[in-house]
Amino acid sequence: MNLRTGAPVRVGMLFSETGVTAAIERSERLATQLAVEEINASGGIGGRPLELVSHDPQSSPAAYRTLAESLVADDGVKVILGCYMSSTRKAVLPVLERWNALLLYPTLYEGFEYSRHVFYTGAAPNQNSVQLAEHMTRSFGSRVFMVGSDYVYPHESNRIMSDLVFERGGEKVAEIYLPLEAKPEDFRAIVKRIKTQQPDFIFSTVVGEGTAMLYRAYAEAGLDPARMPIASLTTTEAEINSMGAQFAVGHLTSAPYFQSLDTPANRRCVASFKARYGDDKVTNQCWEAAYFQVHLLADAMRRTDPDDVEALLRALPGSEFGAPQGRVRVDEHNHHTWLKPRIGRAREDGQFDIIEEARSWVRPDPYLVSHTLEDWSVRVKLESA
Ligand code: ACM
Repeated sequence: MNLRTGAPVRVGMLFSETGVTAAIERSERLATQLAVEEINASGGIGGRPLELVSHDPQSSPAAYRTLAESLVADDGVKVILGCYMSSTRKAVLPVLERWNALLLYPTLYEGFEYSRHVFYTGAAPNQNSVQLAEHMTRSFGSRVFMVGSDYVYPHESNRIMSDLVFERGGEKVAEIYLPLEAKPEDFRAIVKRIKTQQPDFIFSTVVGEGTAMLYRAYAEAGLDPARMPIASLTTTEAEINSMGAQFAVGHLTSAPYFQSLDTPANRRCVASFKARYGDDKVTNQCWEAAYFQVHLLADAMRRTDPDDVEALLRALPGSEFGAPQGRVRVDEHNHHTWLKPRIGRAREDGQFDIIEEARSWVRPDPYLVSHTLEDWSVRVKLESA
C-alpha cells in the first residue's frame, strides 16, 4: 500500500531521553518506534502512516505536563504514548481530562487509579505485587526491609506490599525513602542498616539511576542474594544493563515479561528489535508493553475513525493482541490489561531465569478488590527456587 497518499495519523510520544529514568524510558521509546515501523510496513491505518510527534520530558513531572499540553493544544495530537514514573502520569492526567485526549501508559504502577482517558498496559498490583509477596514469604521468610525512591509509586507500592506481607503473618522491619537524585553513599548507609537488621528479604521500589547504586552497595557489603535477596517490580533488564550484570545475579523481579521468555513470538520480536536497533539492546517488561500497546491502538484505529477520541474509547476496551508475553487483553471495565504474572531471577548474563509463572493471564484488579493471593494459586513452578 502506498502510504504517501494518506495524511499521517499523528500520535504523541513522551519518553525521557535525559534525567534519572532515561535508560528505561529510552527502551520504551525504541519499542514504540519498532511497533510504528511494523504498522507502517503493513499499510499503516487504512493507508495512512502513523507518525510520532516526540519530545524529551527529562524525567520531570512539570515538563511532562507542559509537553503533553503542547502536543494536544499546539500539535493537535489526540493520543499520547508515554510516561514512566507515576508522578509523570499524574501530571499528565489533568491535561487529558481538559482536552479530551488519551494516554496509553506502558509502565507497571501502584494501581488505585482509573481515568476514562488512560489505558494502562503495564502490570497492576494484583499482577505483580501479590505474586512477589507470595513467592518471597514462601521462599525466604516474612521480615521485609523496604527501600524506595521518594515519590508516589514507591509509597503506594510499599503500602500494598506491607498489607500482603502482614496477611502472611510477616512484618516490615524498615521503610525508607531516598530522593531520586540520591548518591552512592546514601545507598551504602541503607545497606549498612540492612546488614544490621538482617531481614529475610529487601523490597526495593528504587527507580532509575539509584537502582544501580543500591545493587552495587549490596554487593560491596558482601551480602548474599541466595539468603537475603532484593525483590523488585522495577529492576528490569534495562537497569541491569546499566549497573553491570554481576551486581544483579540472584536478585528477583516480578513482571509479566522477560526478554528470556522462550516462545517463537518473543524470539522473533527480540531478533527484529536487535536487527533494527543494535545487538547491544535489551528488552524488558516496559519495552514489551510500549510495543504491544501501539499494536492495540493501531488495531483499534483501523476499526474506527483514528482521529475520533470517543470512537477509540469504544474500540479499545475488549481488544486483544498476541504480544511477546502471550495474548493480552484490554479490560472492558477498568482500562487496565489482562497479563501473565511471572517471577524472574537475574543471572550472570543480565537476563532472567523465569522460575514461576501463572497458568494463564490474570484479570487486572487495580483496586485490589479481591485482596487475596488467589491469582497466584494456579501458578506453575518452573524450577525450585
Ligand atoms: C512507576 O512509577 N510507575 C514505576
